[in-house]
Amino acid sequence: MCSEVAAEAFHNKQKMERVFSMNAGNGDYSYAQNSTWQKDELLRAKSELEECIKSWKTILECETLCIADLGCSCGPNALLITEIITTLIRNKYAHNGIRVPDFHVFYNDLPSTDFNTLFRLLSAAPPVETSYFAAGVPGSFYTRLFPPKSLHFVHSSFSLHWLSQVPPQVEDKNSKLWNKGRIYISEKGPAGIEDAYFAQFQEDFNCFLRARAKEVVEGGRMFLVLNGRLNAGRRRPTSSALCWEALGFAIQDLVSQGLIEEEKLNSFNMPYYDAFEDELRSEVDKEGSFNVVGLKVNINYDDLEEFDDKDKGIIISKQTRALLENLISYHFGEGVVDALFNRYSKVIAANIIQIDELLKESTSIILALERAIST
Ligand SMILES: C[S@@+](CC[C@H](N)C(=O)[O-])C[C@H]1O[C@@H](n2cnc3c(N)ncnc32)[C@H](O)[C@@H]1O
Repeated sequence: MCSEVAAEAFHNKQKMERVFSMNAGNGDYSYAQNSTWQKDELLRAKSELEECIKSWKTILECETLCIADLGCSCGPNALLITEIITTLIRNKYAHNGIRVPDFHVFYNDLPSTDFNTLFRLLSAAPPVETSYFAAGVPGSFYTRLFPPKSLHFVHSSFSLHWLSQVPPQVEDKNSKLWNKGRIYISEKGPAGIEDAYFAQFQEDFNCFLRARAKEVVEGGRMFLVLNGRLNAGRRRPTSSALCWEALGFAIQDLVSQGLIEEEKLNSFNMPYYDAFEDELRSEVDKEGSFNVVGLKVNINYDDLEEFDDKDKGIIISKQTRALLENLISYHFGEGVVDALFNRYSKVIAANIIQIDELLKESTSIILALERAIST
């Protein structure tokens, strides 16, 4: 990597770490109020989580069991997950007639996350039988976050599809992968852009695995849920890719109204990748510290079926705003946010037939891993 490109990559990663965060608080556009889709998908993955904990052989001798939720965000889903995991582990110990350990739960997310909202939710006293010690850990999960061999169980949901940065070539005017006028992989975008995104995903996922390999005790487990693709082909659009394309159209509309400079559109892309199950498995095998103990692909159900096109547009726009408002305001300016998401809801409504088709294929991948035991 030449020094200019390396400096740019450093800047992009810093931007993600400093700026990216779900919408704070509890208001209408907050992540807390717009994450029922993620909650429902987490509940649908519960039987795999149960299986992951039930089949876990090496964990019955801890005094304090350390759990991390990586990319926990600031809503109620983080607490729901902790309650499910601690209850399952508690039952496992009780079933084996062993004293239930104390739980130490680490909530991790990027530093710009609204940890205060999370801590407030936490302090609304959980019932005694599900209590645990809690701590916040700000930082990127693509780096080291914990001391060596200090974690027994790692959970991460709907976070690992967010990349540490947009692949640098995609925003480089001198590259044949420059994605001028668009914001993600699309059928009309430059050939090869999907491979640049895949390479960025490989690099990031490898950093994630290498960091966790140091932090998780031998025999410890990880339960990861992330958005993914149903088909191997990287250029075939996913529902997320189509939603990002629709957001790109909404930005283009604001460019033509003179509300956004074209230059701003040409330098904005989504730091996001939908992996295919084999891509995940092969990265785990390549890194070598974890064994796959469960891999399942869930087709997400359509939670918007009952709504008309206009309302579907409004709901998808609000959900997207809860994820992206901070990134959008940083790049395009706060002043355009209302107009942009208003326009986006209309673009979604106008393209709902195609989006509905792809929503039927929208996919979560559930990956359960065990830290290999050295012989
Ligand atoms: C859609 S939210 C998921 C929140 C929660 N886990 C759930 O299932 O509802 C994705 C979260 O991942 C976090 N995230 C993205 N990249 C991250 C990184 N490199 N390190 C830590 N957190 C990250 C985001 O800040 C965001 O809070």
